[in-house]
Amino acid sequence: MANNSLTTIVIFGASGDLTKRKLIPSLFNLCRKDRIPQPYMIVGSGGSAFTDEQFREHLLEGTKQFADFQFSDQEWSNFATRLFYRKASYSSAEDFERLSKELAELEKGPANRLYYMAIPPKLFPDTIHNLDATGQLHEDGGWRRVVLEKPFGTDLASAVELNKQVQGALNENQIYRIDHYLGKETVQNILFTRFANTIFEPIWNRNYIDHVQITVAEKVGLEHRAGFYDSVGVLRDVFQNHILQLLTLISMEPPASFDATHLRNEKVKVLSAIQPMTPEQVALNTVRAQYRGYRTEPEVKPSSNTATYAALRLSINNWRWKGVPFYLRSGKSMAEKQTQAIIQFKEPPLAMFPMQTMKPNLLVLYLQPDEGVHLRFEAKAPDTVAETRSVDMEFHYAEAFGPTAIPEAYERLLLDALQGDASLFTRADEAETAWALIDPILQTWENHGTPPLATYKPGTWGPYEADTLLARDGRRWLNEEASSMRED
Ligand code: BG6
Repeated sequence: MANNSLTTIVIFGASGDLTKRKLIPSLFNLCRKDRIPQPYMIVGSGGSAFTDEQFREHLLEGTKQFADFQFSDQEWSNFATRLFYRKASYSSAEDFERLSKELAELEKGPANRLYYMAIPPKLFPDTIHNLDATGQLHEDGGWRRVVLEKPFGTDLASAVELNKQVQGALNENQIYRIDHYLGKETVQNILFTRFANTIFEPIWNRNYIDHVQITVAEKVGLEHRAGFYDSVGVLRDVFQNHILQLLTLISMEPPASFDATHLRNEKVKVLSAIQPMTPEQVALNTVRAQYRGYRTEPEVKPSSNTATYAALRLSINNWRWKGVPFYLRSGKSMAEKQTQAIIQFKEPPLAMFPMQTMKPNLLVLYLQPDEGVHLRFEAKAPDTVAETRSVDMEFHYAEAFGPTAIPEAYERLLLDALQGDASLFTRADEAETAWALIDPILQTWENHGTPPLATYKPGTWGPYEADTLLARDGRRWLNEEASSMRED
């Protein structure tokens, strides 16, 4: 293996948005921090025609616009010398033959290769097939790894088929299915909060926890992605991946170690403890909604029933979680951007102080924005005989580590893929188990039309049906209360 030799990062879909917004700014920042294994080069590829110079210009513009760090011309000039572009159509075996030769000419010897598929998933099979057929996946001169962007399939059957196709050409340990949520510092910190401390894990179970709420609320609407979004909807777009990842990290058992196999075994185990819903359960335990005005958005079908909001009530059938509901929700065009998980603990068994208001303790994991962790507990209000008031212990990343401490999620994921660490990537069985939970919901929504599609006013916290979902259990969404915690 060419461990100390050249590494080539080949980006398919190099003229697209992801490359200029995320991948190149992240690689540039890794280069500034001197973290990318040396030596390396980055070769963009795709259907568009660019000279190396034009490609560099194009990426320079994107990086200036999207990088969230101080841009320096000198650092860029140094980085830009490693950028190249070679045109290839994904379905053309001939183009891949040519690409193979061109890459070999640039590399001038054995090299490792990371292929990044920043292309629509329907193009994965052809691209991987052509890489395979032209010998570009052979590991004789160095390692070969492939990063696959989401969405990984559109349902269980397509994910199984896609796994079959990519595993036909690659070993599972060469495949890196990306979910950018796992690259977020705050998402990784869920595991650190739980397993780098002793005080949470003993109470992290059905004996102490009343329920869990996970919210991925977005203020933005479709952002020029209507064509894609209208055929996908909120369940496929964020539940099958991001939200189930959050649920998994919150609910999994401690792994034997922090390596890819142990970590992902535990994730699959907890996902498997969730029963896929029957149509009757879907009608009862899910809410789907569309914001008003969605159907008149450009490129959206006027009769579209695509859900832009969903709320689910899930149960995990294992010893730790039996009887603890997990309420999950996400939507576009909501009141504010807020990604958080709230762990609500049980109320004290009795009110022993005469003026005590019974309030449960809350642990709030603020994933974004204003990243941090807050613990709400009851205190005696001063100068009263026995009144209580809720107070918070707060950790804010910006205060503790500085305002620019949190890097872009893609930095970590790109580096991990370059270093061969798949812990923060989705394994084949994990992707399929997640689809097995989402599929019956999609089918009941799409084929039976139940529950009916609700609507909500843009800029709000979603439809009242979602409040009813919790009210039925004697509970309510805690976000407004939680955000007031931050304003204190
Ligand atoms: C993407 C979805 O995966 O995640 C988008 O396709 C969504 O629709 C985005 O807006 C949210 O990511 P983040 O990092 O802004 O929470």
